[in-house]
Amino acid sequence: MKIVLASRNAHKIKELYAFISPIDPSIEILSLDDIGFVGDIEEDGTTFEENALIKAKAVAAMGYIGIADDSGLAVDALNGAPGVYSARYSGEHGDDHKNNMLLLENIKHVPDEARTAQFVSVIACAFPDNAHEPIVCRGECPGTILHAYRGNGGFGYDPLFYYAPFDKTYAEMAPEEKNQISHRANAMAKFIAAFKEIFPTL
Ligand code: IMP
Repeated sequence: MKIVLASRNAHKIKELYAFISPIDPSIEILSLDDIGFVGDIEEDGTTFEENALIKAKAVAAMGYIGIADDSGLAVDALNGAPGVYSARYSGEHGDDHKNNMLLLENIKHVPDEARTAQFVSVIACAFPDNAHEPIVCRGECPGTILHAYRGNGGFGYDPLFYYAPFDKTYAEMAPEEKNQISHRANAMAKFIAAFKEIFPTL
C-alpha cells in the first residue's frame, strides 16, 4: 500500500512518518515530490478540517491515498487566534520567529493564569475514486504560552508552548516525548484506529 503525505513542512512530515511507519511494514510512505506533485496546495478553507481535507483530496485526485495534517495554535486570550492562520500569522508563510514575536506582543498584557492555549491537529485521509469515505480526526493538547523561548528543538510555536504535566515546552521535549502527548499524536491515534477499521488486515 502506498500513502502520500500531503505536506511540504519537513518537521510535520518527520512527525507523521513516526506515527504511520509502525502501522505495517507493507506501507510505503511517499512525499509530494515522489509523485511529481508540483507547487503548493492552496489552503483556502476556514477550519482545520476543511484545510486538511483540501490537502488530502488533492493527493487522492492523483490516484494515491493522501494523508494531511492541518494544525495550529489556538490562544484563549486571542479568541482562538492564530488558529488556521498559525503558519502565516505575521504575514510571511513559515517565518516561525516572526510569528512567535507577534504572538508575544499580542498577549504581553495577559496575566500568566490567562495565557492558556491549545494546539490543534486535524488529520484527514482521502482515497482515490472515493473508494472510501474520507477520514477526519481532530486531536488537541492543552498548554500555556510563556513570555520567552525555552528549548531548542521542534519548530513553529514549540519554544513558547509549555506543557505542565512534563514541566517542559514542546521545544524541550525529545521527539518521542512530544509524540506521546502532542495534538498530532492524539489525532493520529484516532486516525490509525479508523484506518484499521477500513483495512483490518494491517
Ligand atoms: P499548516 O501547515 O497550515 O497546518 O500550518 C501549521 C502551523 O501551525 C505551523 O506552521 C506552525 O506554526 C503551527 N504548528 C502546528 N503544529 C505545530 C507543532 O507541533 N509545533 C509548533 N508549531 C506547530
